[in-house]
Amino acid sequence: MAGIGQTHGKIILIGEHAVVYGQPAITIPLLDIPTIVKITPIDESISQLSSRYFEGPITNCPPELAGIRILIELLTKDLPIATTFKVAINSDLPIERGMGSSAATGAAITKAMFDYAKVPLEYSELIHYTNFSEKIIHGTPSGIDAITVNSQQPIYFIKNKITQPFSMNLAAYLVIIDSGIKGNTGAAVHDLRVFKQQQPQIVNPLLEQLGDLTQQTQQAIAQHDIKTLGQIFQTAQNILQTLNISNANLDKLVSTANLAGALGTKITGGGRGGCLIALAPTKTIAQKITQAVSSQAQKVWIQSLANLK
Ligand code: MEV
Repeated sequence: MAGIGQTHGKIILIGEHAVVYGQPAITIPLLDIPTIVKITPIDESISQLSSRYFEGPITNCPPELAGIRILIELLTKDLPIATTFKVAINSDLPIERGMGSSAATGAAITKAMFDYAKVPLEYSELIHYTNFSEKIIHGTPSGIDAITVNSQQPIYFIKNKITQPFSMNLAAYLVIIDSGIKGNTGAAVHDLRVFKQQQPQIVNPLLEQLGDLTQQTQQAIAQHDIKTLGQIFQTAQNILQTLNISNANLDKLVSTANLAGALGTKITGGGRGGCLIALAPTKTIAQKITQAVSSQAQKVWIQSLANLK
């Protein structure tokens, strides 16, 4: 009777923001941080939502969960669902931290609703509905989050052109550092658009440089060149800073991680808060970085870059 849907988080290795303007980006799925949605029938007049952030009738969802509410309403119309139901969302992904929580939730809800309605789900429909809820939240998403939370592999992505899954096997670790500060991808994307319109001579070359860094990242990954990858991270972080995507708290965390041995540290995702990724050449250094940032960060994950296939 129940419907189940499972997806996972994501991080953007390189190319965030520039990807909105047609530059390439590379992402990694966080397969160890799942989002699971379960749908069960209930004997009440209004369907209910149960999550870390809200419990109650779906119609009373707070504004931050509008994307989820509107997606569930759309799917209820599009699918042959006659009963009221409870949507239970279980996820360890922090929200508004650039780890793909909104896309993972949208995708897991879509899978669970199709499963509940006993309707087979095509991949193109899964991406369509995931992007639908992303658009409500972020306005003009590139689509990269929707693709990555539904992929088992790293992705090389160019908006509306290329979605290329690939394998990665690097003897290195990413330390994912949650700054504890809410990001706001929609606002960051909007402000960058205004900056680009007002000062294209500054912004356009920087977006192109971020695109070049994605190409260099692809080469560094192919050549197992961790040191260069760290330098690329740092160059990207400096550009994101110039584009007003970073802030003083994040800059401080970047310095702390680098002093503890990271080869480079950058924002991942929308920025202005959210998460950073620090590149560590060994697990011991990843643990040192974790310790060094622990008093400034809310939570830290260590993600191996080996055997991502
Ligand atoms: C958000 O995870 C990544 C951004 O590039 C926005 C997008 O691609 O839609 C900031």
